[in-house]
Amino acid sequence: VVDIRKLYAQTGTFTYDPGFTSTASCESGLTYIDGDQGVLLHRGYPIGQLAEQSSFMEVAYLLLNGELPNGQELDKFNSTITRHTMLHEQLATFYRGFRRDAHPMAVMCGVAGALSAFYHDSTDITDPQQRMIASHRLIAKMPTIAAMAYKYSVGQPFLYPDNSLSYTGNFLRMTFGVPAEQYEVNPVVEKALDRIFILHADHEQNASTSTVRLAGSSGANPFACIAAGIACLWGPAHGGANEAALNMLHEIGRPERIPEFIARAKDKNDPFRLMGFGHRVYKNYDPRATVMQKTVREVFESLGVNDPVFEVALRLEELALKDDYFVEKKLFPNVDFYSGVILSAIGFPTTMFTALFALARTVGWVAQWNEMISDPEQKIGRPRQLYTGPTQRDYVPVGQR
Ligand code: ACO
Repeated sequence: VVDIRKLYAQTGTFTYDPGFTSTASCESGLTYIDGDQGVLLHRGYPIGQLAEQSSFMEVAYLLLNGELPNGQELDKFNSTITRHTMLHEQLATFYRGFRRDAHPMAVMCGVAGALSAFYHDSTDITDPQQRMIASHRLIAKMPTIAAMAYKYSVGQPFLYPDNSLSYTGNFLRMTFGVPAEQYEVNPVVEKALDRIFILHADHEQNASTSTVRLAGSSGANPFACIAAGIACLWGPAHGGANEAALNMLHEIGRPERIPEFIARAKDKNDPFRLMGFGHRVYKNYDPRATVMQKTVREVFESLGVNDPVFEVALRLEELALKDDYFVEKKLFPNVDFYSGVILSAIGFPTTMFTALFALARTVGWVAQWNEMISDPEQKIGRPRQLYTGPTQRDYVPVGQR
């Protein structure tokens, strides 16, 4: 019997790194994370400054083009994006093929993938101009796709985009406008949601971004690659955590019940984890969670909401951060811990939370995809494995087994 592990060890050419905890899959100039210090920079700019002072469209431009836009460049970028906000009318029929209770992520995955059938003029990915058009289309259409998924689930008519509004204002109107003419965008809500989009725009080589890069490395259609990213993001260990975190806070319900849930999270025989806590890279407070916590207060004040679930979240954070288990394992609230509280106050059902994450992360996905394809060293991604199956053996005809 050949010991395959020994063989691999002897060749010395393979690294075995399940979960890629210490393997860089690419070079990238987009996003820098120092997980120990809790630092996140996009093209050198701290996430806190971008969240406080810029807009999602500025951050999208920055990630795609490498520099912040000046006023003229931003106007041009905004008008380019708004030119692409409509979906092909035939896609409305495609939506109607889904069950009404389909998860919005299932719908988004299907519709984003279906766009690959509509844009044959932006599929020559060797042409940088065509790649940019595909990127603009994806950024522009994602709010329309997500809003239509919501409208379909609640049985309301689809609304066309209103390009006189901001990127985020238009999304709010397409989602909540009933009827559209009477919907007035609340500027505090608009700012808060825009900030949430900024906080989710990119996060280097996370699972969904790596999926987009891997799918794109074969030269696949960009819309299909983004559909792959959406599928990966959906999982509860990744983008699905915001939905799971709010469900958990509701299940806890009252501050008095928190110790019971902390004890469960520490119990190795119980699969329960504190959702919205812990991160593969951050071993310190996730800087995005700090901005989120502040934004909750602003939205609650503007909407006159006083959701007890926020009190549960604050107390849970306080108790967990004093607990030896969480301190030793360096488990802090991540971006998903507070985002659900805000989104729920704005009026989004929990099933839409991950769809909003996908909408925002599309910017990072297309920027990373562009960066990968422009790299002259780019190769198809092809991980190796450590084979653990049987060694060679002879086939035995079925009657003799
Ligand atoms: N609650 C309780 N214990 C936890 C938690 C948690 N939320 N997160 C990690 N741990 C423990 C693990 O049980 C493990 O303990 P052990 O060393 O005794 O076995 C240790 O901390 C390390 O955890 P891993 O799962 O090995 O860490 P990994 O880096 O693989 O996972 C992850 C990171 C998936 C985010 C994890 O912390 C988790 O499941 N958190 C909850 C889900 C969540 O919030 N995901 C959102 C991530 S952010 C994003 O995608 C935007």
